[in-house]
Amino acid sequence: MKNILVTGGCGFIGSNFIRFILQKNAGIRIINLDALTYAGNRENLSDIQGEKRYTFFQGDINNTALVRKLLKEFGVDTIVHFAAETHVDRSILGPESFIQTNILGTYHLLEEARRWWIEEGFDRNIKTCFHHISTDEVFGSLGPDDKAFSENTPYAPSSPYSASKAASDHLVRAYFQTYGLPVTITNCSNNYGPFQFPEKLIPLTILNALKGKALPVYGDGKQVRDWLYVEDHCRAIELVLQEGTAGETYIVGGNNQPPNINIVQSICRILDCLRPDSSFTPRTSLIQYVEDRPGHDRRYAMDITKIQRELGWQPAISLDAGLLQTVKWYLEHLDWVDNIATRPDYQGWLAKNYNQRGKNR
Ligand code: NAD
Ligand code: DAU
Repeated sequence: MKNILVTGGCGFIGSNFIRFILQKNAGIRIINLDALTYAGNRENLSDIQGEKRYTFFQGDINNTALVRKLLKEFGVDTIVHFAAETHVDRSILGPESFIQTNILGTYHLLEEARRWWIEEGFDRNIKTCFHHISTDEVFGSLGPDDKAFSENTPYAPSSPYSASKAASDHLVRAYFQTYGLPVTITNCSNNYGPFQFPEKLIPLTILNALKGKALPVYGDGKQVRDWLYVEDHCRAIELVLQEGTAGETYIVGGNNQPPNINIVQSICRILDCLRPDSSFTPRTSLIQYVEDRPGHDRRYAMDITKIQRELGWQPAISLDAGLLQTVKWYLEHLDWVDNIATRPDYQGWLAKNYNQRGKNR
């Protein structure tokens, strides 16, 4: 049995990854360490609570005693590190927790990994003992004619979020160079799909469009992101764990670059089609341009040549198919949505980010 410690497994990508890995690999046990911040939700994994190969611990990655105990108790072979503060807008209004979790938390986790694999000598032959999940945002913003991000693009983060992720990437790489800890990193573009917390563009748009609320589009809505269906990301991580080379970074992306406004319009059209009997149709009438995000990166694009060539990975789910699947998933999980949408902290966040736009910056 291979034992994987997943951090942040109650979040969006982490929960999809745990379900994906347990379904595909009978010989894997998952230990999920998650602090259950506002973004962590045990409901995301309610369907596998009875699974013998799955164990959950509530705790902070900065709690070195707890991490040390888990590594030893479960004979952990590999850490897959998702835990992070992840929302750019929250990082602009309050960077501190991003420094605590993304930088210090990653440092503490790396130190415990170093103790376990190098000082205590656990399984010296392992290919990857620490896989770090990172983001394309560490590379900053592309101009209209710039080449897509590759593994050789210099780092130029724009927000406290991306700066904290950049710092964590540097630490992970340093532990390979300095101590020989067998690490791998993936820098992935925007994920979407089931269980994404409704503060991010796609789930927020779905929810608001269903309720007939305004659909906030930052600036001119022409910023470009590269969208990847979350299951494709999980498959890429699995491949890197199985066949990746220690010390290497892999760019992961969806091979598409629509402007934000197109994404919002597509969601409106899908909902108009699936729920035509509503007084809000056409839902594009709900679109509202609002003050832009400070330091907003204009364009991301991903060059996935390396992971395609070396590991044979490429996205399998098109943006059209993935968006339709995602909208349907939210429509079929309105209880999950309501449990979040009715929370005072969630309502408080919406008020802080949208009602005050432009006044508190
Ligand atoms: P998320 O915000 O949905 O979930 C983060 C999880 O981490 C939550 O369950 C939270 O409780 C947990 N967590 C936060 N601080 C913690 C701490 N100190 N100790 C333990 N657990 C803690 O995030 P996500 O969108 O699933 O992103 C997961 C990872 O993937 C992050 O590292 C993010 O930077 C990276 N990433 C995300 C995207 C994306 O589009 N969502 C794209 C590329 C990379
Ligand atoms: O690129 C990968 C990153 O994608 C991850 O590292 C982050 O963790 C993840 O949150 C995501 O960051 P973004 O800032 O790109 O995601 P978000 O959904 O917040 O915004 C997507 C785009 O939509 C961005 O250009 C800002 C815009 N936007 C967002 C919101 C919430 C709007 O126009 N209106 C909104 O209300």
